[in-house]
Amino acid sequence: MTSKKRVLSGMQPSGRLHIGNLVGALQNWVKLQDEYQCYYFVADWHSLTSQYADTSPIKDNIMDLLVNWLAAGLDPEKATIFIQSRVPEHAELHLLLSMITPLGWLERVPSYKEKQLEVKDKDLNTYGFLGYPLLQSADILIYKANYVPVGVDQVSHLEITREICRRFNNFYGEVFPEPEALLTEFPKVPGLDGRKMSKTYDNCVYLSDTPAEVEQKIKTMMTDPQRVKRTDSGDPDLSPVFQLHKIFSTKEEQDEVAEGCRTAGIGCLDCKKILIKNLFSVLEPIWEKRGKFLNKPEIIKEIIDAGSLKAKEIASNTVTEATRAIRLNALM
Ligand code: TRP
Repeated sequence: MTSKKRVLSGMQPSGRLHIGNLVGALQNWVKLQDEYQCYYFVADWHSLTSQYADTSPIKDNIMDLLVNWLAAGLDPEKATIFIQSRVPEHAELHLLLSMITPLGWLERVPSYKEKQLEVKDKDLNTYGFLGYPLLQSADILIYKANYVPVGVDQVSHLEITREICRRFNNFYGEVFPEPEALLTEFPKVPGLDGRKMSKTYDNCVYLSDTPAEVEQKIKTMMTDPQRVKRTDSGDPDLSPVFQLHKIFSTKEEQDEVAEGCRTAGIGCLDCKKILIKNLFSVLEPIWEKRGKFLNKPEIIKEIIDAGSLKAKEIASNTVTEATRAIRLNALM
């Protein structure tokens, strides 16, 4: 019997999950759990690399993440679900890897400089933040993951992980298999104001929004700005609402609303009603399942305790193996 290949991925608890996260990552994670041995974790140490000054939202964000993961269909019977800091071996491997990591490799990861320039309200000139991609490498290598489903923004982190992997294996012998990114191809999900959906812009439809909130958000969402009056014809390609139709509506519905927009045959509200209906049919099963987990920390705790224990067993074996390879195993 060939054993299933291993998939690993993580998310930072840096804000509430939105429909961009759902279609960009979570739905894919759910699919993968049937085909692979999957490890999914909350990267709470990673969120600390930038949120160290105000840690007050992290707890709630972790709970939001876990409730929504489970509601969206991650299944603890199929996948191992855990929290990074509950498996401190990640930190141990991170330390070992840090010894062989040239500073220049970390300094030239694009997200390092970019984020420092972009984020103005936090001081990211820290040791922890520089080490962000290396901590990610430890997360991946410690489970000897074969595939890492991520978005394009994470490709450089996968690249440095592969470089560190080769460097370790060259120095100390083949311990780690080289992981590969499983790129999640998905059209950028526009936010309510037409920019990329992101919690920083406050333009999101959250999985934790109530049906009434979702409806209200879509009803007031930006459309083709040139279509001012009902009788004006519009250009669907200039409307972020149409971009959402491309993700959530059938081909027939897309054609119908595009045609109605161009000819002023339908109004923006008619178009939005179809989108709302389709969003509801994706979100309804999630809302329904959320009820099972919301305000039931004991159920979630049980899942995380079991998942963390399972993860820890693998992680600690890998650290022992790495320690031996480095020959730090005197008297072990
Ligand atoms: N850096 C990832 C992100 O922000 C989160 C992450 C941390 C991760 N460790 C990981 C993703 C390991 C994949 C594998 O999205």
